[in-house]
Amino acid sequence: MPDGLTWEKEPHHNWWARAGRHRWSVHFIPGMVTGRSPELAGLGRHQVLIADEYAWQKQGGSLAAYYDDLGVRWQVITVPAGEKAKDLAVVRSVAAELADVELGPDSVVVGVGGSAIGDVVRMLMALWDGGRDCALLATTPLSAVDGDVGTKNFVDLLAASGDRLKNKLRVHRPALVTIADPDLFRTVPDAHVRSASCEIVKTMIDDPGIIATLEASGLEMQAACWSDAPSLAVLARATDTMLRAIQSNPDDKITLRTMNFGHFIGKTIELMAVPPMPHGWSVGICMAVTIKAAEARGYVSGEYCERLLRLMHKLDLPMWHPLLTRDVFVRAIKDTTRSRKGPDTVPVPDEKERHRFVSLGVDELVDAAKCLRDWQPVA
Ligand SMILES: NC(=O)c1ccc[n+]([C@@H]2O[C@H](COP(=O)([O-])OP(=O)(O)OC[C@H]3O[C@@H](n4cnc5c(N)ncnc54)[C@H](O)[C@@H]3O)[C@@H](O)[C@H]2O)c1
Repeated sequence: MPDGLTWEKEPHHNWWARAGRHRWSVHFIPGMVTGRSPELAGLGRHQVLIADEYAWQKQGGSLAAYYDDLGVRWQVITVPAGEKAKDLAVVRSVAAELADVELGPDSVVVGVGGSAIGDVVRMLMALWDGGRDCALLATTPLSAVDGDVGTKNFVDLLAASGDRLKNKLRVHRPALVTIADPDLFRTVPDAHVRSASCEIVKTMIDDPGIIATLEASGLEMQAACWSDAPSLAVLARATDTMLRAIQSNPDDKITLRTMNFGHFIGKTIELMAVPPMPHGWSVGICMAVTIKAAEARGYVSGEYCERLLRLMHKLDLPMWHPLLTRDVFVRAIKDTTRSRKGPDTVPVPDEKERHRFVSLGVDELVDAAKCLRDWQPVA
């Protein structure tokens, strides 16, 4: 069968992706946990859950009841919440705990949490005996639209100099199955809900049609933590855009990637920000700078630029940060060029062509940042 992506929209949203050596599927199943729907339980009679400790605190009770009612033998290994998990030391300590678990043919390892856990668990299982399949239960909207649905797994590296290198260690191996029950998103903190909104807005680079939907109802969907029925269609649309991009480039051999929209200065800002910011916020800030730079170059009109910024403003997404200085831009361009082993060519929106790839210079980034600092929506 050739590479490709199959998307089945009814009764839920299910994707089956094939790309090179990778095969994986993604399923959105609202009400699965409370309704005792068997998709997750059916993955194995014995399940070892590697769970984000905060997500487990919020959702562990209902998941335990789900597994117990469906007769699944389960045990849980908790790991530090969120970004703190993305460390080789955590991968090693989870590996040590997993080594004491008897994994039989009917045992499945399931990562439970947001994309940070997805990264850690897929990284661990890529290394486990040379590669063992795993599943993910995506508990944040960002993990459902982005982090948990693809093939890339990252953890950070602390260099001998003391510099923290975000997402420096990487392997390519998808979870065999990723399941999202949007009901679980309801306890995600607001900052992380808005972080997901940034990644959802990001998909406009390939799918500008999503802008009108987000303008009309994005605020209500965000207020519902992207968990209600109307949100499901938008999440699925964004996930589909993301999966198509990933599926056509599963091992990142193509360096010009539309899904890098909002990512070229993001890593640097995310690592330097005090207090720390959720991943998606750095994406939002970088998208706003890129949109403004695209306007200055004439790729998008003033009205289109305003429209995008107004949408981000309406959703209360970050669009500026004191770190947007010349020095930081210089460093960010250097970081990006180094990490991508190629030129700092970034995707920018283009009103006619949808997007184009260009190199943005420091002066134009500084100008864009200045405009954003003073930007207010026109009444
Ligand atoms: N591998 C990839 O392709 C990829 C893509 C995008 C992002 N990422 C990575 O994903 C991470 C961000 O992912 P994220 O937004 O899912 O954040 P996350 O995993 O860091 O979780 C965010 C916060 O929400 C909490 N949480 C998770 N589920 C919860 C729930 N149901 N209820 C209450 N709290 C819950 C966590 O404890 C954490 O504090 C970043 O590290 C980013 O680099 C990876």
